[in-house]
Amino acid sequence: MSVDSVTADSVSGPGAIADTNQHYDLDPDIFGQFLDPLRKYSAGRYLSEHDTLEQAQRNKLRFVADRLGLRGGERLLDIGCGWGSLILYMAAELRCETLGVSPAPRQHGYIAEQAAARGVADLVRTRVGHFERLDLPARGFDAVTMLGSIVHMPDLDEVFRRARAVLRRDGRLYVSESCFRNAAIRARFDDRAGTDFVRDDIFGWGDLRPLSDLVTAAENAGFSMISVDDLTEDYHRTIEDWIANVEANAATIDAHGAGTAQRLRRYLEIANAGWGYTTKHYALVCRNGR
Ligand SMILES: C[S@@+](CC[C@H](N)C(=O)[O-])C[C@H]1O[C@@H](n2cnc3c(N)ncnc32)[C@H](O)[C@@H]1O
Repeated sequence: MSVDSVTADSVSGPGAIADTNQHYDLDPDIFGQFLDPLRKYSAGRYLSEHDTLEQAQRNKLRFVADRLGLRGGERLLDIGCGWGSLILYMAAELRCETLGVSPAPRQHGYIAEQAAARGVADLVRTRVGHFERLDLPARGFDAVTMLGSIVHMPDLDEVFRRARAVLRRDGRLYVSESCFRNAAIRARFDDRAGTDFVRDDIFGWGDLRPLSDLVTAAENAGFSMISVDDLTEDYHRTIEDWIANVEANAATIDAHGAGTAQRLRRYLEIANAGWGYTTKHYALVCRNGR
């Protein structure tokens, strides 16, 4: 496995990339203590008041498959694949041929073990690196997904342009992301202490943008828009469930480093305080066609 190297001054300007391994390359067990069993680190979808976190995450993966119009057997690229929840699910449920991309090496070892245990090793591949730097086959995929990862990519135009280049004609791109409510709120809240803590201390780099920035970059790349869904309330509930798990498993999380649980909890509480006021969570679906 090769890992892209990143320098601190590479996060601005065209072609910029950012390093977030200080968070995502932590021991996968930490994430197992507060995420659902598939370790999906993004918003779930709660269809009833009784849905558990695990059910909500499975609902969400079904929702993504529906929005992409997947029927089975498609070639799917997941950019920012985390611990593999989406690729493992699409391989097991729909026999999709999947490729997951992430710069965090430990995620890949975990995914390989899970794919073998679930009998889908032949349908699940991953590559270590930044999407912006990887060579991928032109028009090589029927669908592309990005759940909670575009926030870590400085150059939106480059990302949407590359995503379109790897999609077959009429293939779909699904992006779900947390966004500032609008440009004025971004300007006001971008350098607040809470924003800095989440961006720099937790992730290393992350840039919440208004939805309009994502749509503009998608349009510039040549995509047609299909749909926008508001998943803000779903993310609020997801994070409530994560906070409860961090509290319940704080001692195990802190065995990986004193204060880890408290930092995680602070991050999650800051995120949950903003929904509907300063921040929203949207799912955007685009088509590579006229
Ligand atoms: C919030 S996690 C979401 C993981 C997964 N999509 C999920 O829903 O569980 C963000 C992921 O994006 C990855 N990532 C960060 N920068 C990236 C980049 N430039 N290219 C590809 N993946 C990236 C991180 O390593 C991490 O796996």
